[in-house]
Amino acid sequence: MRPSLARALIRPLVLAATLTAIPLVGAAPVAADSVVVGGFPIDVSQAPWTVALSSRDRFGGTRAGQFCGGVAVARTTVITAAHCLAEGVLGAPPNRVRDLKVIAGRTHLLSSEGQEIAVQDARVNPGYDSRTNTGDFAVLTLAKPLPQSAVVAMAGAGDPAYKPGTQALVSGWGDTTGEGAYARRLYAAHVSVLPDDQCARAYPGGPDGTFQAGSMLCAGEAAGGPDACQGDSGGPLVAAGRLIGLVSWGSGCGRQGSPGVYTRVSEVVRGLDAASAGRKLPHKGS
Ligand code: ARG
Repeated sequence: MRPSLARALIRPLVLAATLTAIPLVGAAPVAADSVVVGGFPIDVSQAPWTVALSSRDRFGGTRAGQFCGGVAVARTTVITAAHCLAEGVLGAPPNRVRDLKVIAGRTHLLSSEGQEIAVQDARVNPGYDSRTNTGDFAVLTLAKPLPQSAVVAMAGAGDPAYKPGTQALVSGWGDTTGEGAYARRLYAAHVSVLPDDQCARAYPGGPDGTFQAGSMLCAGEAAGGPDACQGDSGGPLVAAGRLIGLVSWGSGCGRQGSPGVYTRVSEVVRGLDAASAGRKLPHKGS
């Protein structure tokens, strides 16, 4: 997972020819390996909390510098995946990337819709472990507030939205084919929250990673199909109007038996609470 992740992030992303050809929600699954299916184009107004992380200096302008997703959880706070801000991705610590921005309220990356807001501060979860992917979240403070209508609530521990079988929506500008076809417009896919024991069986440990229920959740469909993919990282998984996951990792994209793995947002809530109480986030999981 690490190599493909780094590769994907360094080589910006495009959405699927396949998806443009089949613009149906829940379209019949395509069997090919590593192909994200069941995705569909959406307007950002349908998931206004979805933002793009951008650095044109680092990733060029062909897709407005988009390299990861993020989620607005307060007017000046965006959360994303810790691995999106790794030095291997950005080429420098995030607070040194001068043109690191959040693009909000924009469906098509190359349009001028919505706004681009500078990132004033970036904090990677001190408990993040790049080897196991536990605690894969980071917090960005924006230089200007977003509209309140862009903000989504985070689901705390015990929220019923985490129940297996819950329908959730993942959104982003990532790869639509599993082969580096990065989108220029926003897509989404419907996935179900899967039981932790099923995720643990899918990822018992190996090159792609180990599932850890304390800090991760997984979602997809038993037969494969709809899934997030490279370039969607850091973006939202929302169920019942609340944020439950951040796109984190997986083995390929949309493969049967390899569901998408997400940072469990209740862990982010715990981390934010600890940070505001001046405590360091204890390392959990592993
Ligand atoms: N790590 C990827 C990224 O950086 C996200 C991978 C998600 N994969 C999946 N099959 N859901 O963009």
